[in-house]
Formats: sequence, structure tokens, C-alpha cells
Amino acid sequence: MATYDLVVIGTGPGGYVCAVRASQLGMKVAVVEKNATLGGTCLNVGCMPSKALLHASEMFEEAGHSFAKMGVKVSAPTLDLPSMMNFKQQGIDGNVKGVEFLMKKNKVDVLKGTGKILGSGKVEVSADGKSQVIETKNIVIATGSDIARLKGIEIDEKRIVSSTGALALDKVPGKLLIVGAGVIGLELGSVWKRLGAEVVVVEFLDRILPGMDGEIAKQFQRILEKQGFAFKLGAKVTGIDTSGKTLKATVEPAAGGTAETLEADVVLVAIGRVPYTDGLGLKEAGVALDPRGRVQIDPHFATSLKGVYAIGDVVAGPMLAHKAEDEGVAVAEIIAGQAGHVNYDVIPGVVYTTPEVSSVGKTEEELKQAGVAYTVGKFPFTANGRSKVNQTTDGFVKILADAKTDRVLGVHIIGIEAGEMIHEACVLMEFGGSAEDLARTCHAHPTRSEAVKEAALAVGKRAIHM
Ligand code: FAD
Ligand code: NAI
Repeated sequence: MATYDLVVIGTGPGGYVCAVRASQLGMKVAVVEKNATLGGTCLNVGCMPSKALLHASEMFEEAGHSFAKMGVKVSAPTLDLPSMMNFKQQGIDGNVKGVEFLMKKNKVDVLKGTGKILGSGKVEVSADGKSQVIETKNIVIATGSDIARLKGIEIDEKRIVSSTGALALDKVPGKLLIVGAGVIGLELGSVWKRLGAEVVVVEFLDRILPGMDGEIAKQFQRILEKQGFAFKLGAKVTGIDTSGKTLKATVEPAAGGTAETLEADVVLVAIGRVPYTDGLGLKEAGVALDPRGRVQIDPHFATSLKGVYAIGDVVAGPMLAHKAEDEGVAVAEIIAGQAGHVNYDVIPGVVYTTPEVSSVGKTEEELKQAGVAYTVGKFPFTANGRSKVNQTTDGFVKILADAKTDRVLGVHIIGIEAGEMIHEACVLMEFGGSAEDLARTCHAHPTRSEAVKEAALAVGKRAIHM
């Protein structure tokens, strides 16, 4: 007799959400977590701490630069970095405690230790030199991801840092060199830029934010440059000399050529993340990996070993917390005999900078490549009343719709609160809605979301305020 119906290995957003849903469906569930706290990368060293620092540093920036023009006179703000880090930690603690509460409320057993799969229905949990074997009908692997490293460059989390170290620097670096103009580089670059660092970003490709719509990325780069970011595109860091007081990074053109040396106090390596499967015993147990080291799954999240499933960052797809959560729900429902499903065509992505960048569905480049005939509707925030009165007019909304059917295929926004505004597009797209459906939906005035409605009107060449 199995002790549990389901054992979930890992308590990130994939794992803990899966455990809650499975419990709701009547299963007896345990989670295994090797970290001291629950919540995974997202709650401890990812989404949540980065958003706390983005918020706090944005307030610092606003107090220093935006209040005066609105007639709010304050003396120049000074930075108390330990208090800001404490603010971040309080946010982490609150969320981690929230997950502990959810485990209790849903009667999910929390087994502290490293989980190893011994075979179908058997998980070994080891901690402090002791181990126990747990029997279970089903296993879900939700072990997430780890930082990708640059060959020959050792991350010490003090001077050469990953996102984890960059979330916990004890002073503002004079010069911060960032390798990788992806989401982490631009979000954490924004934090330290606002707090006073000089930021240079070295990116291998000839553009920032690969995967996002090209037009949006171009405008975003211009905005970041106006904020003081410097970009070296089409370049790579090939080595870092750590012998002196200042780090000396060797930067080469990606296509080869003459190298230059850039000095920095701190280097942030943010070149992506890799699936984390260490210590799980997958090979011995017979769980197959794909060529990129991710756990291989079928469309129902099943691995090559009977009764073992996998979700989240450790499998293919965007490495996003909400994608992991939705997979957690879907796999619990599948195990319970229901029709769990994730629509991978409607997974939003948000970059939480100022302004924010958000996106759902296809980019213009993807539609061109697929040979899909499309129409474009765009609306700038300079023509949106609310943005004008707040004097925050950077950015625009871009809607891509099928030229024949008017069905919305992609929505891309750059602007303040873009991360909140994207969700009406997500709902519309889940229902297969058209640009006209969106354009005919009444939007409250005055809101920034009216720019979304206007962009939908612009698909039919009938925007009102432009
Ligand atoms: P994880 O959250 O990585 O959790 C995996 C858990 O498994 C960990 O707790 C780990 O300790 C545990 N574990 C691993 N192996 C074992 C084992 N053998 N036994 C027991 N436990 C084990 N995504 C967003 O959507 N929005 C954001 O704003 C965002 N910001 C981010 C900022 C940063 C700096 C970083 C690094 C990431 C960010 N992400 C963001 C990505 C997000 O954190 C991940 O997509 C998400 O955490 C993946 O969830 P997961 O459940 O698959 O794995
Ligand atoms: P990323 O994949 O977003 O960006 C990495 C960047 O580094 C790419 O632009 C890539 O071209 C570049 N790069 C790769 N090798 C390089 C090299 N040798 N030299 C120079 N540039 C190089 O990865 P990132 O920013 O590390 O984030 C990891 C993951 O975490 C992402 O998948 C992302 O989805 C997730 N994340 C999500 C956030 C959000 O949703 N707001 C916030 C932070 C992270």
C-alpha cells in the first residue's frame, strides 16, 4: 500500500501549487524540499525579492527625480541599503510563510531533505546524513532550474555574481557590468542603476530581450539608454581578471575581432538558466532527459518512468513562475483522471522595469516567419489622456491580428503598468477573440488600458484619439 497518492519533489511555484491542487482533488500529498524554506527560486531568490528591490529602487528614483515637477518638495533622498534589503527580506518571509500556511491548510506533509527517485512509487528523502524511503502512487518532479555559468568565469557571489548575489549586494557598485541583456540583466540592472551604479550591458546578440517583439525591444533599448544604460550588443565576455581591486573583463565582438577591456566593480552573469536535476537519481531510475538536459515529458507531463511526471523550469518551455503553476494544476488534474491542460499559446511574459514590457502570443517576426497574413494596430501612450496627465508617456501598445479573421494573435505593450494591462489580452485570446471584440468592449476612462482598446481600434484603422 502506498503511503501517499502523490509526492512532489520541489516546492517552487510549480511544486507547491501542484500539491495544493492535488489535495483539493482528494489526494494524500507530500512535498519534499531540500532548501531551508519553501517557495523555490521564485519566492526566495527570484521573482519576489527582485520585485521588492525594483519597487523600492523605483520609489527612490521617483523621490529624487519626479516629485518636484508635481509640486511635491522633498529633500534629496538618501539610500539606506540595509533597510532596503530588510524590506526585501520581509517580503520574502511573508510569502514563504504563506506557502507554509497553504501546506498546513491543505494537509500536505512537508518532508525536509533531498528527494531521490528510486523507481516508480519510491522516493528517498535524505537530510543530515539520515534517509527514509517514501512510498507513493505518483511522483511529480518540480525541481526547477539553476543559473547558467560562463566557461572559465567563477561566480563568487561577491564581485562576480549571479542574480542571487545581485539581489544581496552590500553596497552599490560604482560600475556594474552585466553579461546578458535578458530579463534578469535588465531588471537587476535597473535596480542598481536607480541606486547609483553605472551600468554597461554586454549582449551576445545584436538586440536586447531575444524572443520579445523586435519593435518593442528596439524602443525599450532607447528608453533604457535615456535612463543611462550603456549597451554593447553583438559582444561577449571571454574572461575576467580578478587580480586587482577592479575587475577587468575581456570583451570580444561575437563574430570575432579585436578584444577590449572593460573595468567593473561587480560583474553580473545573467545568460539564462538551466534545468536542475542534480541528486534526483534520474539516470539510475530510468527517467529520460532531452538533449538540453530537461526532463523529457509527453503532452500529459508523463516522463519515461511510469507514475513519474515533471513540470516547471525543469521541463521545456518558458522558465516562468506562472507557467510552472499552471502546469502544476494541470498535472494534478491529469493524475486525478481529469483533463488538465495548459494553453502554451497564451502565456504572458513581463519585464518589471520602468516602464514595463509585456507580451502575449506571437511576435511580428514569428508571424512573418510562419507566413501568416496579419494586420497591426498601434497606439502610443503619448495620446492616452491618463498617461498625459501623469506625464508618463513612454511606450505604446501593439496588437497583431489575423488579416482574414481579425482574431488577435499577439499583443505587446511597453509602458507603465504594462504587466497588469496584458491580462485583458490573455482573456480575449483564450476565448479566440478578435480585435473588434476588444475594440467594442467599454474601457473605463481615464485609464491606461484605453490605449489597449485604441490599439484594437487601430487594427481596423479607426482609432479615435490619434
Ligand atoms: P523552482 O522555483 O526553481 O523550485 C524548485 C525547488 O525544488 C527549489 O526549492 C529547490 O530547492 C527544490 N529542489 C530541487 N531539487 C530538489 C531535490 N532533489 N529534493 C528536494 N528539493 C529539491 N518568473 C516569473 O514568472 N516572473 C518573475 O518576475 C520572475 N523573476 C525572476 C527573477 C529572478 C532573479 C530569477 C532567477 C527567476 C525569476 N523568474 C520569474 C523565474 C521563476 O523563478 C521560475 O520560473 C520559477 O521559480 C520556476 O518554478 P519551479 O517550481 O519550476 O522551480
Ligand atoms: P534570458 O534568457 O532572459 O537572457 C539571457 C541573455 O543572455 C540573452 O539575451 C542571451 O542572448 C544572452 N547571452 C547568452 N550567452 C551570452 C554570452 N556568452 N555573452 C553575452 N550574452 C549572452 O536569461 P536571464 O535573464 O538569465 O533569465 C533567466 C530566466 O529567468 C529567463 O528564462 C526568464 O524567463 C526568467 N526570469 C523571468 C523574469 C520575469 O518574468 N520578469 C525575471 C527574471 C528572470
